[in-house]
Formats: sequence, structure tokens, C-alpha cells
Amino acid sequence: MDGAARTSGLASIAHDLLLLQALGLRLVVVPGARPQIDAALEGAGIVSELHRGVRVTTAEAQQLVNQAVGQVRIELEAALSRGLPESPYQHQQVAVVSGNYVIAQPIGVRDGVDYQHSGELRRLEVEPLKQQLAMGAIVLLPSLGYSPSGEVFNLAAEDLAVAAAKALNADKLAWLAPSDEAAGPKALTPSSASQTDNQLLERLADAASVVSRVHCLDSNVDGALLKEFYTRDGVGVLITDGGYDNERPATVDDIGGILGLIEPLEQQGVLVPRSREQLELEIEQFQLLERDGLVVACAALFPLADSDAGELACLAVHPDYRQKQLAKVLLRRIEEAARQQGLSQLFVLTTHTAHWFKEQGFATAVVDALPVERQQLYNNQRNSQVLLKTLSH
Ligand SMILES: CC(C)(COP(=O)(O)OP(=O)(O)OC[C@H]1O[C@@H](n2cnc3c(N)ncnc32)[C@H](O)[C@@H]1OP(=O)(O)O)[C@@H](O)C(=O)NCCC(=O)NCCS
Repeated sequence: MDGAARTSGLASIAHDLLLLQALGLRLVVVPGARPQIDAALEGAGIVSELHRGVRVTTAEAQQLVNQAVGQVRIELEAALSRGLPESPYQHQQVAVVSGNYVIAQPIGVRDGVDYQHSGELRRLEVEPLKQQLAMGAIVLLPSLGYSPSGEVFNLAAEDLAVAAAKALNADKLAWLAPSDEAAGPKALTPSSASQTDNQLLERLADAASVVSRVHCLDSNVDGALLKEFYTRDGVGVLITDGGYDNERPATVDDIGGILGLIEPLEQQGVLVPRSREQLELEIEQFQLLERDGLVVACAALFPLADSDAGELACLAVHPDYRQKQLAKVLLRRIEEAARQQGLSQLFVLTTHTAHWFKEQGFATAVVDALPVERQQLYNNQRNSQVLLKTLSH
């Protein structure tokens, strides 16, 4: 978590961490301390030089860095010692441990600039750390590392979190950031994360090659961790390398690829048949995910005339790419597009897939709930189920 996240709501974040721990997650927490370090240096009248966005940490500054990082660690340990009052876990004391798990090396001299005590991860002592997790402890990794020669190095907390998540083969990495840094589209691939102007998302995306779900959350949202992990729509930015490398609106050049994906499903009666001509007219409504030029998933959004509702249609994932959350990524995209168009309801008509949609927050509706114009087009023979989701704004 960012050092600023700490100051805004440490007690609430500690509470959420303890709840996640009680729910069975094994937690490694990387508390950043940049604002605290900045304040300590400023207080001592030390101006630290930044080179390529990285602080040059002199020996004098390192003393203050150690103090600031130590203070952050102590405050977090204290907050985590409060437990979960008024819950079945209230008498359960969770062990919080930290230690010399992070082995660091100096960044060294780059472009003629000696970074001195600014370091980077050399390796993580994975086995002892995993033993602590297996015994039920929460492990804290403050943003300091030690060298085999006994020196202390100042590390960038977000880079340490990414490296630790990769080294531990973690299921999830969640980073709590200030609101402006946590802003972004709700779902991203690593390659699209690197195309945003957001450096933090780009750095976090580095973990997505190993960690299947990387989340960037606004620390000012109360309960952000719980809401992201345990609500369908989540509240943060999700970066996932779900087997695709590009997501974009479709163009006429994609018609062949989309037909290749949906025709077998049309033949099985799962999707309503669409001719090439119809697709040409509707192509701008389609979003797709592609891998090496192959369309691996598509979906379309049709705003319904004279209503605040839109229809999600033609959601399809290539059989080789199913069960990788791609449909959920596309659904998030479509919902985002619908919100941007001012829509507040999303309909879907389906014969085979009602359950999947219900798991994504849709509820059964009657045909009469459709806007009148769409009711007239309803195909009684298909007898599709109508499902409706109200979009949160
Ligand atoms: C439905 C579909 C889009 C899901 O794509 P996906 O990328 O595999 O979905 P996700 O990875 O996000 O979710 C997979 C989960 O949904 C479940 N699921 C898939 N199809 C389902 C269905 N018809 N009913 C209920 N659950 C279903 C899977 O079993 C899996 O469950 P798990 O997570 O417990 O293992 C895909 O199976 C598909 O293209 N189906 C044919 C087209 C279709 O039915 N489109 C909807 C009509 S508009």
C-alpha cells in the first residue's frame, strides 16, 4: 500500500486485512512510506535528488528513511493488533511478523548518477516467509532490504510488492493508492496498462505475467479490498493477462474474425444468426479481445431507442479461451461503455446462458420490462429469457 493510504485510513485497512486473513487468505503486506520519508527529509532540511523518478538516498538520508519506515511498520503492527472487535474472531490474536526476508543490492551508478543507498530487490527469502504464512502469520515487508554485506537499502514499495508477488507466485496482488493514481479503466491487459499515462498501473502490470489478478485500488474508498474481492463488479482497476493481448472496439476488418467465432454458436442455436451485412452495419457496437490477430472474444452493446437501457448481445468467447475470465472482462467493458453513454440498465436475452449472467448480477425480468420497441422484435419462438442488470453509477 502507498504511504499515503496509511495516513488516510490505517485502522480501516488493518480491519479489512484481518478480515481477509480470517477468511483464509494468506497475506503479505508491503507498506510504503514515501510521504513519511519526504516529511522526515524536509524536516531535517535535506533535499533529496531524484533521477528518473528514483530518489538518490545518501547515507545521511538513509538514517531518516530507516526511522520513517520503522515508524510505518510499528503503526501498522499496532493497528493489526487491535483484532476484530465484536466479531467471532475478537479474541484471536494474529501474529504479525517481519524480518530479513528482503535481500537487496544497490541500484548503482546510472547515467553517471550514483544512487547510493537506493536499492533494488536481489532476492526474497521465499521459504522462511512461506513458513510464516503457513503458520497463520501476516508477513510485513517494509520497503527496506539488506545486503549480504550488512548494508540497508531503500526500495520502492510498489516494485517490492510486484517482485514479492511474483516470487511467491501469489494468486492476487492488490495495491492501495491515492485516488488520482488508482484511476483507470476497470479492466486492463498488461499491454493496455502500459499504454495508459499511469506509471503506477504500468509498474503493477509487470506482475500480471505471473499473478493472475492484479488490482489497483483507491485507498480512500472505505473497504476497497473487500469490495474488490467480494463484489461482482469490484471497485478498482483489474489488470489480468487472461490469454489475450489486445482489447479494442471492432472495425470492419474484424468481421471475418467475429463470424469465425460466432457462426458455430449460431449453428448450435446459442446465438441469434447475424448476416455479414448486418454485422457490417452493427460493427461499431462491438468490442473484442484478440490474441496474435485472432478474435478470442466479442460482445456488442446496443442502446435501445428512447430509453435509458442498452442490450448486451453476442457475447462469445472462443472455446480454447474459456474459463479465463474473458467474458467477465468484456462484460466490465460493456458496462463501462453503457455508463459512459448514460445508460442505467443492461438487458440480455439468452437461451443457454442465463445462469452465467445471474452470477454476474443480472436478474430475471419479464418481456414487458423491455422497452416497447424491443418487445416488438422479441422472437417468441426462441423463447429467450430476459435478464436485467441495473448499473451502479
Ligand atoms: C458464456 C461464455 C461467454 C463464458 O465465457 P468465459 O470467458 O469462459 O467465462 P468466464 O471465464 O468469465 O466464466 C467462466 C465460468 O462460467 C461458467 N459458465 C460458462 N457457461 C455457463 C453457462 N451457460 N451457464 C452457467 N455457467 C456457465 C463456467 O463453468 C465457469 O465457471 P467457474 O468459474 O466456476 O469454473 C462462454 O462460455 C461462451 O462463449 N458461450 C457461448 C456463447 C453464449 O452463451 N453467449 C451468451 C449469449 S449472449
